[in-house]
Amino acid sequence: MRGASGVVTLPRHSVRWVLAHGIIRALNAREARRGNPIARLMSDPTARAEPWSTYSGVREQGPVLGEGSFRVTASHAVAAEILRSDAFGVPAANAHFPEPLHSIFLATLSEYDVGPVDPPSLLALDAPDHTRLRRLVARHFTARRVAQLEADVVATTKALLDGLDGLDGLDGLDRPHGDGAVDLVEHFSARLPVAVISRLLGVPDHRRDEVLAWGNEGAKQLDGGLGYREFLGTTRAVTDMHRAMDEHIADLRAHPGDDLLSSVIRSADALPADEQPTAVELRMIALLVLGAGFETTVNLISNAVARLDEHPEEKARCLADESLWDNAVEEVLRHDSPVQLTGRTAVRDTTVEGVAIPAGTTVLIMLGGANRDPAVFADPDRFDVGRAEAGEHLAFSLGAHFCLGAQLARLEARVALRELYSRHPDLRVVGTPVRKQTQVLRGYEHLPVELGPRA
Ligand code: HEM
Repeated sequence: MRGASGVVTLPRHSVRWVLAHGIIRALNAREARRGNPIARLMSDPTARAEPWSTYSGVREQGPVLGEGSFRVTASHAVAAEILRSDAFGVPAANAHFPEPLHSIFLATLSEYDVGPVDPPSLLALDAPDHTRLRRLVARHFTARRVAQLEADVVATTKALLDGLDGLDGLDGLDRPHGDGAVDLVEHFSARLPVAVISRLLGVPDHRRDEVLAWGNEGAKQLDGGLGYREFLGTTRAVTDMHRAMDEHIADLRAHPGDDLLSSVIRSADALPADEQPTAVELRMIALLVLGAGFETTVNLISNAVARLDEHPEEKARCLADESLWDNAVEEVLRHDSPVQLTGRTAVRDTTVEGVAIPAGTTVLIMLGGANRDPAVFADPDRFDVGRAEAGEHLAFSLGAHFCLGAQLARLEARVALRELYSRHPDLRVVGTPVRKQTQVLRGYEHLPVELGPRA
């Protein structure tokens, strides 16, 4: 294609895909063929289904593995140190590319297709911009504010469980155990978080299915090495989300409600002009909270049901003593972390556990591996709902980017599991659960269960 200047230009999305995914995809495939276990993990969903031996292999070889500008760690101590350290920042928008590639990459972003790991998403900013924008929403997610939502979360959960009563059939999945089986993800685990976060953000009920579909597509952008078609699909969804959020913010400005987003908009508009977030910054805050609000919690609830099903003795402990649910949620977060990976890039030359890390080096942090580090968790592969040190996990990260919704996710999971099992104590997984193919997020696409009789 020839631009007005006569210079040959390529479609923006193709250039963005090559830089953000194509190169990584090709390198990963080559390394995986050479037997590199980390590359295999990134490129092969079957390897990702059971990543634990790869994580322990990485950990056993040293605190930080690799050389050059890309390293990896599965050590709890190293992960915690890096996440808290001001010598590291987020690996924003492929900052590791040398110039002019980095500038070319930034030029391929439009304000209507920036995704969850592109600036100005909170996940892709460092201080001071990160601090300025995070401050706008953080006060709405304190433990006290979240505790006030409990009655609403309980009511939503009970209404969803009432809805399960009328269902039977796996909607196209296999049904080896007869009637009464339902896909728990579709009808419960995904529904609860999307209902809670949509209500918080004032998104009308009738848009929930749309929000779920966009979120599922948009979340794929957390992964590296997407295929071109997949990349185009997720970019289209992200653009649709931006357009819809633009309209929604305009609606709330004109007719504010008592929801969190109306309040964020009000405080943003009250700031001095030079401190106000730009339209895309405000939209990204809302979109990230919306997406992060359900794309992860759905996995926490489903992973919990799957692990409890595999460990009936642990389930029996929770049924016998409801006070164990809080710790059981922490143990699921540790043992089967819904977010498996993150990364940080050194902003200056530094040293971690005696390993020199030059400025510009990106470290892949295996959160799911840190959460199985025997230096912190005794017999780490054992699933134990009473584990005293379960809460030491890094499933919500640490430091400046510590998950904003951690308290909300904990509340939703505790209520969901308590209500689900108190109504259906004999619930069991049947048929073939289908895992999500994603790299960063770990969970189920489908989790067929038989509810059993109501208690
Ligand atoms: C089980 C559920 C959840 C898990 C495992 C989880 C995990 C995480 C992790 C690991 C990060 C930090 C990533 C990094 O350090 O690079 C994060 C950030 C974030 N989470 Fe969550 N999250 C969950 C639920 C939620 C919910 C319910 C919300 C909605 C309010 C939410 C909103 C956010 C936001 C806005 C950030 C970005 C914070 C920042 O960059 O400053 N998360 N989450």
